[in-house]
Amino acid sequence: MAIQLTTGNHIAGTSSKGNQEKWREDSRWYKLDLFGYEGLAETVTPILLAKTTVEALGVRYVSYRMERVEAHRHIRNGCSSPDFLQPGEAILTIADLFRKGVGSDWQKTVSRLPNFPSKIQWMVEQTVRLTGLVHFGAYLTLLFEIDMLFGNADRHLDNVAILRREERFDYCPLFDLGAGLLSNVRDYPMEIAPKALLRQLRAQPLDTTFTRQVHAAEAVYGVQLEWDFDLTDIETPLAEPLRFYAEREMWYICDRVETCIKMQKAKLEW
Ligand SMILES: Nc1ncnc2c1ncn2[C@@H]1O[C@H](COP(=O)(O)OP(=O)(O)O)[C@@H](O)[C@H]1O
Ligand SMILES: [Mg+2]
Repeated sequence: MAIQLTTGNHIAGTSSKGNQEKWREDSRWYKLDLFGYEGLAETVTPILLAKTTVEALGVRYVSYRMERVEAHRHIRNGCSSPDFLQPGEAILTIADLFRKGVGSDWQKTVSRLPNFPSKIQWMVEQTVRLTGLVHFGAYLTLLFEIDMLFGNADRHLDNVAILRREERFDYCPLFDLGAGLLSNVRDYPMEIAPKALLRQLRAQPLDTTFTRQVHAAEAVYGVQLEWDFDLTDIETPLAEPLRFYAEREMWYICDRVETCIKMQKAKLEW
């Protein structure tokens, strides 16, 4: 029997996971793999997003490419993405927005709300009030659906961002999906079958199942994401990033990625 360790029932504001080393160079952001194949997850996900309705919904996303770099005299895998900020623009996380615009005890207010749809609605209404981004409900729902599709359990509110240029706000391009596709082999070990790992995944920021989180958002803001790809469409985008990893790991990575997308897709279609 598994021993269950539970944390308080609150909306995750920060991640307990370590920080991938990252830096900006020649207008690109570089990010090193830390607990597994984050670079591959980051690279493959946007290629698949191109086969969804994301762009048609007017939401931009960031493309990544694999990198092999020497850092601190060690050869490391990682990925890079073009800097998406325009001059004068900055990223503001939703956690920061709430701290500044609602108060440091905003989590208490949310914890008193009776159910998941009302918690999501509260987050959306505060964001709309503070930024004027009237489609934020649809944007957040889309983000939750994408996280579910790729099994990204790292959507704490420091990973939901908006763009700010002086007093004007805009929707942030989607980025930082590298924690999906079971890429973290410390938290999701290679020796455990991917299906069992996927059953354990918890969705952030509500700390519940992906199904409950997505259904709660869709109940208020409607279904946003549709996609048109199957497992054969994954093989080609996987092939190039896979070459960066050791040959003995390739089969496992492939199996984990494919099982993840297959299972998560089935849950999302249901
Ligand atoms: N392509 C990019 N354009 C602009 N800023 C970026 C880009 N990639 C990363 N950053 C900056 O680095 C921060 C952390 O990047 P992120 O990909 O979210 O890494 P982490 O996995 O550590 O959360 C972002 O909040 C942003 O400030
Ligand atoms: Mg992040």
